[in-house]
Amino acid sequence: MRLRYGTLIVWLLALALVAVGCGTQQTAQTGSGGEAADGKKTLVVGMDASFAPFEYVDANNQLTGFDVDLMKAIAKEAGFAVQFKNTSWEVLFLTLQNGETDVLISGITITDERKKTMDFSEPYFEAAQLIAVREDANVTQFADLKDKNLTVGVQTGSTADTIVSELLGKTSPNIKRYETVPNAMQALQIGDVDVVVADNAVVQNYLKNNPDAKLKTVEDEAFPKEYYGIAVKKGNKELLDKINKALKTLKENGTYDRLYEKYFGKAN
Ligand code: ARG
Repeated sequence: MRLRYGTLIVWLLALALVAVGCGTQQTAQTGSGGEAADGKKTLVVGMDASFAPFEYVDANNQLTGFDVDLMKAIAKEAGFAVQFKNTSWEVLFLTLQNGETDVLISGITITDERKKTMDFSEPYFEAAQLIAVREDANVTQFADLKDKNLTVGVQTGSTADTIVSELLGKTSPNIKRYETVPNAMQALQIGDVDVVVADNAVVQNYLKNNPDAKLKTVEDEAFPKEYYGIAVKKGNKELLDKINKALKTLKENGTYDRLYEKYFGKAN
């Protein structure tokens, strides 16, 4: 019992810390449609900043990453101001619906299902799922997850969750769902799961930044290509057009390539 209380207290403390942390990351809200000091319209941009190198909180507690830089460049090009709002992945899409955010950029894969509830820009990044396992694991393909009865960690509600749910069955006890990809990767490291499936660049980034984690990746050609899009509220054509136009310009004038290189190295 005593141990249980101890654990509970640790959890409560952790929760309190997270709450404080979130508070400091969310810059003061002007709400959507506000005006910046220079008279530009300020758009609130939602993201789940646990997805390096696309969006993460750096050592100085600043939101950073490819998506953050790209969105800033789009805003500059299109003539609006942006204010970033860090939320959990699980509520991210909801914030768009209830007006807490105007735009989402968060490594979001464009899917037919999601297109029912929001509108997407032209694709700005190509991705695919990638398997991560411990170095000594004997996994060579996605089908092994089922054939070898492995436990699999995914981010709740991600495209990895969808794909793994299709393979193992949505209610399979072998699927363990985590709030973030780093949480799933940590579970893999300590042996709580055998495998993690997540977006390739994010898995690769984690391995690069955690060289002592003793993890390796396994590719499988069977994973479909995924394309990230910037989301706006369904029907917000005016904003979507501006974003698409700016994105096109940034691709043409080299800004996109410069950002790509900054985070991913030279495109091949
Ligand atoms: N691309 C995947 C999806 O759309 C994962 C995105 C997760 N993004 C994040 N910032 N946590 O489901």
